[in-house]
Amino acid sequence: MVESVKSGPLPRYYQLKEIIRERIRSGEWPAGSLIPSERELCERYGISRMTARQSITELVNEGLLYREQGKGTYVGRPKIAQQLLRLTGFTEDMRARDQRPGAKVLAAEMWPADEETAERLRVKVGQPVFRLRRLRLADAEPLALETSSISFIGCERLLGDDLERNSLYQLLDAAYDVPPLEAEQELEADLAGDDEARLLEVAVGTPVLRTRRVTATRRNQPIEYATSVYRGDKYRFYTRMVRDHR
Ligand code: GLP
Repeated sequence: MVESVKSGPLPRYYQLKEIIRERIRSGEWPAGSLIPSERELCERYGISRMTARQSITELVNEGLLYREQGKGTYVGRPKIAQQLLRLTGFTEDMRARDQRPGAKVLAAEMWPADEETAERLRVKVGQPVFRLRRLRLADAEPLALETSSISFIGCERLLGDDLERNSLYQLLDAAYDVPPLEAEQELEADLAGDDEARLLEVAVGTPVLRTRRVTATRRNQPIEYATSVYRGDKYRFYTRMVRDHR
């Protein structure tokens, strides 16, 4: 473990970054705590103000620290990493992280498919689909807003299900025999609109991540078209890539 800043091959700003990282990793500086000021860091490690600032700025850019105007620099909370390797639902994602999944149903109704939905679900425009709008929570904290349009023969029976307590994917799999098997998803950066900001409990214009997902069941038949808005300060998407052998 790096404990002091020395002259040597490693740049000083880099050494200080590693020291700060270690303080956070060991729990000595917990999430949400105020870290020493630039001046204190300079004194403690015998480095210049510019070096301290560079280390902090880089760690802010990496998301490990955040600055509050006029107050100082704090340790950030780790974001929820949603892997993009296996097809999972919100409930599964939260359980895998030992967080309590929750949902507030904002709308659950049969709704005529608009052009976009019809195209994605390969149905006719105006065909009734089950539309579900939920606020998704983790340990009672709002994380995402999700609107799913569901289409399969008999999908109107979903009107009778409790989607506040049950996982949609589990129901589709176990109760309706239309298991979600594969999905295509797009991801985009945006800013929260009025309504979204209010529900997600953030300021209007806060960065968010938008996703569009088409989920298919057997024989590649689309059953869900979902648009979601995730809080940008809470979420990180993770994927793994393998280079083709040439
Ligand atoms: C994810 C997807 C949604 C999907 C949901 C199902 O969040 N973005 O498209 O509807 O999971 O979650 P659950 O099974 O918890 O209802």
